[in-house]
Amino acid sequence: MKKKLIAGNWKMNGSTVANAALVQQLLEGVNQVACDIAVCVPAPYLAGVGALVKGTAIAVGAQDVSAHEAGAYTGEVSAGMLRDLAVRYVIVGHSERRQYHGETDAVVANKVQKALAAGIVPIVCVGETLSEREAGQTEEVVKRQLAAVIHTNGHCISEIVVAYEPVWAIGTGKTASPEQAQQVHAVLRTQLHAATAHSDRVRILYGGSMNAANAAELLAQTDIDGGLVGGASLKALDFLAIIAAAA
Ligand code: PGA
Repeated sequence: MKKKLIAGNWKMNGSTVANAALVQQLLEGVNQVACDIAVCVPAPYLAGVGALVKGTAIAVGAQDVSAHEAGAYTGEVSAGMLRDLAVRYVIVGHSERRQYHGETDAVVANKVQKALAAGIVPIVCVGETLSEREAGQTEEVVKRQLAAVIHTNGHCISEIVVAYEPVWAIGTGKTASPEQAQQVHAVLRTQLHAATAHSDRVRILYGGSMNAANAAELLAQTDIDGGLVGGASLKALDFLAIIAAAA
């Protein structure tokens, strides 16, 4: 069985003082962990949080990366810069970036390529909106999103992490049922299997209102290899409970 990955997505939250307190509480609570743990923090805090968790069970991740390597791209952060800061993971194609920043499947695929080239593990987000689900398009949407990443990255996709995040479940308190999530995870698993001989290496996380109460049931599903946790990752006890559920 794959080691599960629990990744916190802090989104645009935190401060130097708040981060230090949260990380300290997490470090006190994660003594014997049987899963991989990451916190994906806002770019200005990558170095600071990186220093706090250095040598511990907690890895640092970023929330975005540029599709470009270097140059005149004001405000962008390159994969090389993330590597420079010893960042292990980067969330790519989160629905909030697709929705508010116009990231297309092609842009997401290029970002994944840059992360992989820098040796950073991209956590590639896919997921349908409520109207797409209601129109019966869930499979088609997630397959299209993942296909773009596979097309651009070929066999390297065995090095990615996928996160299935139904948009209607993000930050809404509405979680996909374990059966609904498993169904989509199985579709993604089949697609990965067709694309690489090493698909068994690829972890598929569930994200969308995962919390201390529902994590165990979601993580018990055959094809759910971890969680991408937003709101609950900002509360140490909740995040620790999810980590415990993954062990
Ligand atoms: P949520 O966010 O856990 O707050 O729903 C998950 C995410 O957006 O990654």
